Amino acid sequence: MTPQMTALRWLDPPDGPAIVLLDQTRLPVEESYLTCTDIPQLVDAIGRLVVRGAPMLGVAGAFGVGLAAARGDDVEAAATAIAAARPTAVNLSWGVRRALAAWRAAAGGTGLVPARNEGAKAALAEARAIAEQDAAASAAMALHGLELVPPGARILTHCNTGGLVSAGAGTAFAVILAAYQAGRLERLWVDETRPLLQGARLTAWEARRAGIPHSVLADGAAGSLLAAGEVDLVLTGADRIAADGSVANKVGTYGLAVLARHHNVPFVVVAPVSTVDFATPDGRSITVEYRPASEVANLAGHPVAPAGTEAYNPAFDVTPAELITALVTEEGLIHPVTPGNLRVLDAATCR
Ligand code: MRU
Repeated sequence: MTPQMTALRWLDPPDGPAIVLLDQTRLPVEESYLTCTDIPQLVDAIGRLVVRGAPMLGVAGAFGVGLAAARGDDVEAAATAIAAARPTAVNLSWGVRRALAAWRAAAGGTGLVPARNEGAKAALAEARAIAEQDAAASAAMALHGLELVPPGARILTHCNTGGLVSAGAGTAFAVILAAYQAGRLERLWVDETRPLLQGARLTAWEARRAGIPHSVLADGAAGSLLAAGEVDLVLTGADRIAADGSVANKVGTYGLAVLARHHNVPFVVVAPVSTVDFATPDGRSITVEYRPASEVANLAGHPVAPAGTEAYNPAFDVTPAELITALVTEEGLIHPVTPGNLRVLDAATCR
């Protein structure tokens, strides 16, 4: 059965075919929905972060292929456009590729374009399978990750990694939620995550809904918080993990990993196997998305720098494997994070 998702819903005819997205750019102020009835709308929504976060981008990408097929569009061209909408989170192109392969296979290996209904059915079934697998991966990561959470833990997290980015409870947030439910979490520290405030806007929204005791902090306060001994564990997600174990995640993650090492606090990354990209050999080869200066020079639509100020705005940074204490995947814990230890995942399912 397709899991009930917070971030995305498929709409069949007569109201569809369409993909309905919870507009994450408007949270927490308002819970509004955006209905994408064509591929340009979906590509724009992905680019604007209406739907976001690595695992959910995989789900959205696959449903996007299903949408193109159901509309009778040029599915190959649509798949290329969706996969290019954001470059860093590897799950996006991975989800698109899986749905595209299912669509192609619906032609029975003839190499011809499949009939519209059969092609759409196959692509959508694959998208639903990706969502189901993501929900299962999330539950498994929560269990594995819980092993690393001490009683009375004070956990620091960055960006947003919960049900908004997953068909389940998320990645790092799934572990946090499991720790809370197991009575092991004393406090969740939430980095606000400038410039787009995924921590303050989205993680605080999810933590409040789950009843988790939490405090939001300015990103620059994480150093003094760690120095004061107020953090037992740092948990983040990942957008792409290279074959050498380097982790691309929301900008600010690398700084946290350096701080955690300095203060002798475990720094743990939680991500499904679909985020590991063996085709990217090392951290330097990861394409980092650069976003408009206006995101840094403005806050909630208001200018916070003089007009025309130039800004440096990488959406992600790369943390080398030696700073990562452990990687939690649905297959289990990887510790230490080395190319050899990662390679065991290469044989994992659905790649
Ligand atoms: O730019 P975003 O908001 O899509 O970035 C999301 C993150 O960096 C998350 O930490 C990441 O996708 C890992 S888990 C969902």
